[in-house]
Amino acid sequence: MGVLRVVQIVSRVLVAHPVWSRPAPCVSYRSFSAKPLAGESTALVYTTHGEPSQVIKLGTLQLPSLGDKSALVKMLAAPINPSDINMIQGTYAILPDLPAVGGNEGVGQVIEVGSKVKTVKVGDWVIPRDAGLGTWQTLVVLSADDLVTLPSDIPLLSAATLGVNPCTALRMLSDFEELKPGDTVIQNAANSGVGQAVIQIAAAKGVHTINVVRDRPDLSQLTDRLKVMGATHVIKEETLRRPEMKELFKFYPRPKLALNGVGGKSATELLRHLQSGGTMVTYGGMAKQPITVPVSALIFKDVKVRGFWVTQWKRNHGHNDKALCSMLDELCTLIRAGKLSPPACTEVSIKDFHKALDNAMKPYISTKQVLVM
Ligand SMILES: NC(=O)c1ccc[n+]([C@@H]2O[C@H](COP(=O)([O-])OP(=O)(O)OC[C@H]3O[C@@H](n4cnc5c(N)ncnc54)[C@H](OP(=O)(O)O)[C@@H]3O)[C@@H](O)[C@H]2O)c1
Repeated sequence: MGVLRVVQIVSRVLVAHPVWSRPAPCVSYRSFSAKPLAGESTALVYTTHGEPSQVIKLGTLQLPSLGDKSALVKMLAAPINPSDINMIQGTYAILPDLPAVGGNEGVGQVIEVGSKVKTVKVGDWVIPRDAGLGTWQTLVVLSADDLVTLPSDIPLLSAATLGVNPCTALRMLSDFEELKPGDTVIQNAANSGVGQAVIQIAAAKGVHTINVVRDRPDLSQLTDRLKVMGATHVIKEETLRRPEMKELFKFYPRPKLALNGVGGKSATELLRHLQSGGTMVTYGGMAKQPITVPVSALIFKDVKVRGFWVTQWKRNHGHNDKALCSMLDELCTLIRAGKLSPPACTEVSIKDFHKALDNAMKPYISTKQVLVM
């Protein structure tokens, strides 16, 4: 299906749904307008759920006029995260109504604001406040309330990838256990975007990390890379079940906190290594396997099994900009201090989206695909 056909489909559905339907205010496509339209956007659109390589199409969308309380944003860069893929597949917890523009995260620059907008100004770098706003497009009109400003003195790739993974890492390291310098955290998927942020934020706090990754031919390069970021130890999944773990805990306290982005056996093994009363926080399920909690971990160690979802955290704190801003401030301070780098990224033009989507879904790729507009 070519670009023209996508535009036709999108336009047809938009006529049926005068307001681009999603939970929060977003781009409204109205057939009536007193003001001139804000222009056209090149966007990665899906009209049905399915495999991203099959359902995502590059299309042209007509932007609505700029309302009093909205802003026209030129998107600069937007990553492809697992949740974006799951949203397109139709398996994520929240799904925008279709047709939808892909992408939940990214940074853009404000190029025009409505007359009543006070919270953002022309030139500001902004990121979406909520999921589902559709960041894989060149231009977007959003309600100013849906935007959070970021300082523009941080690297573009840091800004593009700040709103989801580093926020998740910081919250998980702050909100479940009181971690002191010298404490230990264990995590799987340690080379993921979340994992890399956990390593760096923990290191900045003087907290040791035991980082579990899947075995691969280039394990030693990956290990070196994670150690440069501040990882205390990098081990293979198989090592979790070996006696050498006991040796490790002669030098470091057993973890107070385990961070699980995988599920299945990997999560069960993390639990076994927690100290008594420790907490395992599950934030992802990359293995798509349920978690078995050993009875002994509950009875004899009274471990706590918790979950975390950054979208919910942001929604809970949406009314309180202070919490969100102080979290972003803390992360930007770490970035400026050279203590928090973006994950390893591959920048791909939005026009080469097929390549980017394919790579984002490959195992062992160890680099975040970032669409540049
Ligand atoms: N709850 C929240 O608020 C929240 C926030 C952010 C992210 N997440 C979730 O966290 C997870 C990681 O996200 P991300 O953006 O950091 O990911 P990412 O950078 O794309 O990395 C994906 C990670 O998953 C691992 N992985 C993929 N398939 C796996 C499998 N079958 N078994 C074990 N590991 C596997 C990869 O390991 P290899 O290198 O070995 O392939 C890699 O470490 C996702 O599930 C995402 O949805 C949740």
